[in-house]
Amino acid sequence: MKSLEGANIDQMRRDALDHCIFPLARVEDVHRDGPNIYVEGRGVELVDQEGRVYLDMMSSHTRANSLGYGNDEIARAVYEQLGRLHYVGTYDNFVAPAVTLAAKLADLAPGRLSQVMYVSGGSEAVEAALKLAKQYQVVSGKKPRAYKVIARWGAYHGSTMGALSVTDWLGTRHISEPGVPGTTLIPAPTRYRNPFGMPDDEYEAFCADYLEKQIEHEGPDLVAAFIAEPIMQANGVQPPSAAYFRRVREICDKYGVLLIIDEVITGFGRTGAWFASEHYGIEPDIMTMAKAMTAGYFPMGAMMTRAELLEALPVFRHVHTFSGHGGGVAAATANIAICQRDGVIERARENGRYFLEALKDALRGEAIVGDVRGVGMWVAVDFTSDRKTRAPFTDDTVKAVVRHMREAGVLASGIGVSAFEMAPPLISEREHLDRAVSAAAEAVRHVAGERGLA
Ligand SMILES: Cc1ncc(COP(=O)(O)O)c(C=O)c1O
Repeated sequence: MKSLEGANIDQMRRDALDHCIFPLARVEDVHRDGPNIYVEGRGVELVDQEGRVYLDMMSSHTRANSLGYGNDEIARAVYEQLGRLHYVGTYDNFVAPAVTLAAKLADLAPGRLSQVMYVSGGSEAVEAALKLAKQYQVVSGKKPRAYKVIARWGAYHGSTMGALSVTDWLGTRHISEPGVPGTTLIPAPTRYRNPFGMPDDEYEAFCADYLEKQIEHEGPDLVAAFIAEPIMQANGVQPPSAAYFRRVREICDKYGVLLIIDEVITGFGRTGAWFASEHYGIEPDIMTMAKAMTAGYFPMGAMMTRAELLEALPVFRHVHTFSGHGGGVAAATANIAICQRDGVIERARENGRYFLEALKDALRGEAIVGDVRGVGMWVAVDFTSDRKTRAPFTDDTVKAVVRHMREAGVLASGIGVSAFEMAPPLISEREHLDRAVSAAAEAVRHVAGERGLA
């Protein structure tokens, strides 16, 4: 794999600093540590412009590249579709494989989800979901005044205004407020640490009961939907129990509140299942997906729902220009075919178990490690400055661990200030996972030792 020549490296860095916007990154940090410019990828490895090779244990920073880099089969499928028929508009116009893909998605999706609307990414999928929920409640006559949506503390559903309004990343949301009216947030189950200091199971039951109280408080006739990620990313991979979602489903049914499950980050194998809903037996009324839908080879998302919801609507009043672009359809179709043919998801489930156990073993007894948890190929390490009180770090300790791993050639990602995450490509071999575990353990020991925290 090739690097750039010295003069080109400097010019590219200057051009990036002069002309590129760095979404969510602190400009000061980018000027000090970055920008990270890559020139090539193969399998689970990335090469930066100076020729340094990294083991990408994030499947790209946003966890989309579930099949790694340089997958010729997907690239060829996209190329061929773009040459044959790249795009024909929206309304009732489809490139033919979009129809076949919709039927395929209906096979794979949980419960009775059978109708697909294509979009270009996760935030757009969430916008479509929120709009469908409100339109269904009003037009069906079930709840003609319903406009409210309940979401959860710590949720991330995207950055467009509707999706942002049901998102709880305050640093991102506050500056854009006021958001869409009618949104309220309730507590969400989190492992290891919660704002009330309750035991995990007790807190989880409290969070489910809270949904019922909130619906009653907001006025059941006004509440259109509840939106939740099946496994939250907040402070690092938060798997709830099946009991939580059973109770959530019961409450939604009791009050005629639609359950929107956001599978944008969890869908297409990340958790060792096609969708994380399968782990919990969740039957969503509406579901969103994006990211690994195309293994990251084309920007695409989708919103799915049950036939009954659409049958109530003479028109679904929502549209985007690039709905069902042929490139995305080809990439998603190829991704699904590869996963099915090669048993990618089953392997992710097994290797994910191996990865989590290996990480737990390697970090056992480390003074600054509070909790190691995960589902499938998605793991998080939650750090603490005090194992008795489980206090999170509020300084740059966890950032330093992630930086040290990067220096050792392994890419992980900090979550909040006190956890880090790894979401390896589903095709990772055990030798890659072993290397990632060793790098994580070495970085934890190094940073803890250096700061007198060991
Ligand atoms: C659960 C979830 N929903 C929605 C989104 C937004 O997706 P996008 O960034 O493609 O708009 C994300 C992105 O990280 C996500 O994790």
